[in-house]
Amino acid sequence: MKQKILFVCLGNICRSPLAEALFSKFADEHGISSVFQSDSCGTSGHHRGESPDKRTLKNAKKNNLEIVHLGRQLHPDDFRRSAMILTMDAQNYRDTVSLANRHASEICDIRMLRSFDPLADSHNLDVPDPWFGGEDGFEEVFQIISRSCAGLVEALKKSYPDLPH
Ligand code: 4NP
Repeated sequence: MKQKILFVCLGNICRSPLAEALFSKFADEHGISSVFQSDSCGTSGHHRGESPDKRTLKNAKKNNLEIVHLGRQLHPDDFRRSAMILTMDAQNYRDTVSLANRHASEICDIRMLRSFDPLADSHNLDVPDPWFGGEDGFEEVFQIISRSCAGLVEALKKSYPDLPH
């Protein structure tokens, strides 16, 4: 069975579906998609069943990336079904850990996605929420998530010694 890498944001329509798609693309490019699969969800169920935000899709298309995902909410089963959970901001992290502590008997590795961003400021590991901002915000978020997912793929390749290098 593949190792699931689960990306979590608030609404699951802007940041985490983008991270899911970018991770999948990089895993393909690095020949590790037979080992890892990506998924995403939101701490809130507000946008359950919805396609990603139009601005996220437009920006992804501009960067030659297709995103296919329908919104879903984080569920206690995700903590045993995932190898690693990566959250987009500190509030997502707190909400995710809190759900795990209240409802999960088995808990996987939970981290902030930007801990894999080589350009991140260690005092603020948030991927900013682009929801209320303009189009520039979506490009900035794309660049942050792209760097972070590339860093994550490199880290996974190092920590799983049998993977192709
Ligand atoms: P996301 O962005 O967490 O990156 O999917 C948001 C999407 C929707 C809302 C907030 C953030 N909202 O308040 O509906």
